[in-house]
Amino acid sequence: MSKATRRNFLQKSILGGVFYTFGIPFIRANNSFESLNSDSGFQLENTHYNEIDWTKIRAQFLFPDSRQYLNTASLGPSPRTVVSTVCKTIEQLETSCSHGHHLTKKTHTQIAKFLNTSEDEIAVIRNATEGMNIIARTLRLKAGDEVIISTHEHVGGAAPWMALQKDLGVIVKLIDLDVDGEKNLQIIKNAVTSKTKAIAFSHITCTNGMKLPVKEIAAFCSSKNIFSCVDGAQALGMFPIDLTDMNVDFYTSSGHKWLFGPKGTGVFYMNKKWIKKLNPVFAGAYSDSKFNLNNLTMEYRDSVQREEYGTRNTAISLGLGSAIEFINTIGIENVAKRGRELSDYFRKGLSEMPEIEILTPKSEEFSASMITFRIKGKDNLKLNQQINSEYKIRLRGIYENNLNSIRVSFAVFNNFTEIDNLLIALNSLTTK
Ligand SMILES: Cc1ncc(COP(=O)(O)O)c(C=O)c1O
Repeated sequence: MSKATRRNFLQKSILGGVFYTFGIPFIRANNSFESLNSDSGFQLENTHYNEIDWTKIRAQFLFPDSRQYLNTASLGPSPRTVVSTVCKTIEQLETSCSHGHHLTKKTHTQIAKFLNTSEDEIAVIRNATEGMNIIARTLRLKAGDEVIISTHEHVGGAAPWMALQKDLGVIVKLIDLDVDGEKNLQIIKNAVTSKTKAIAFSHITCTNGMKLPVKEIAAFCSSKNIFSCVDGAQALGMFPIDLTDMNVDFYTSSGHKWLFGPKGTGVFYMNKKWIKKLNPVFAGAYSDSKFNLNNLTMEYRDSVQREEYGTRNTAISLGLGSAIEFINTIGIENVAKRGRELSDYFRKGLSEMPEIEILTPKSEEFSASMITFRIKGKDNLKLNQQINSEYKIRLRGIYENNLNSIRVSFAVFNNFTEIDNLLIALNSLTTK
């Protein structure tokens, strides 16, 4: 094989492999970036809720129809348009030997609009955990300062603060939440002391899918000069979020759950009032507005995007923008309504089984598109494995906080038949 033929062959088998695996036609490279706009490429004839063709939405996802996947809270599969944007971008950037850093600007605009905030308050990061680490370290807390977290935090939302406890002697105060949702604001207020510097909490808990009153907690924090640090990993893409209205200090989220973005993407928000007052934890190329190595001077950018230092993966950043366009095509209000409708249907089915206890609050104020339940007196983590292996339904066992329960996520690709199948499975398991 000549060198040129071998190169051709390799190109075809590598790129062709990637694109054909995803069922996406091979995309010809060109050196301009014009075709790299991450628009959805997916349209719906009708976006009035009652007219939406949910089967058309389901068809956008690559996993087979036979796969009953109700675990978006762990990992959201990406629709075709996202995969296509990532693949196209990789190909084009590789063709021109570019990193394409400037292209991520489009994603900043899309995220800012989606969350009703300004571009300078938004950065694209790798995941929610990275965001919480940035927050924890940016505050420059000292030994004896107190941080409040709850027993319902995910390890990614809790570990960054526990690391401060280890490294600096910061005191982490653990509170338990009210699983009915009602008393959580008061529980948080009661835990505050004169040493409290930050409260870190989930917008939606990963354990029982409970929604916390973010706006009210943030207002309370602000009145006491405490930083409000929100883990939105389970909220972004599930229902509308208005960061300006909530007026939190910090918000971090994954892009690879309810937003269906590429894996390894996240969103970080810092309220603009802190941008000049808090220095970034890490710095590098793109963190600065002025940089002179010879006289060792450096000024940071007045933008949270200073967190995007060094070379980044532009393809997945654009894929994240594409994911937002996908959600926008359906309409985030419609997404939220569908999640609620499916949850309500499942809840109704569960409530007919006396052996089952539901751990997610019922009211719309304190819940959204997830339901956690347990079959009384059973090892629910084992049951979850059984549901997966025997009934081929993918859920998530909740061992956190010793809840011994099972979590179900209701995303736009899920349907009522899958819920019926799950209810049939539960019926037979409870009577065994
Ligand atoms: C509430 C919460 N925070 C953080 C994380 C970690 O997310 P990531 O893997 O994007 O860091 C998760 C993941 O399930 C989560 O549910």
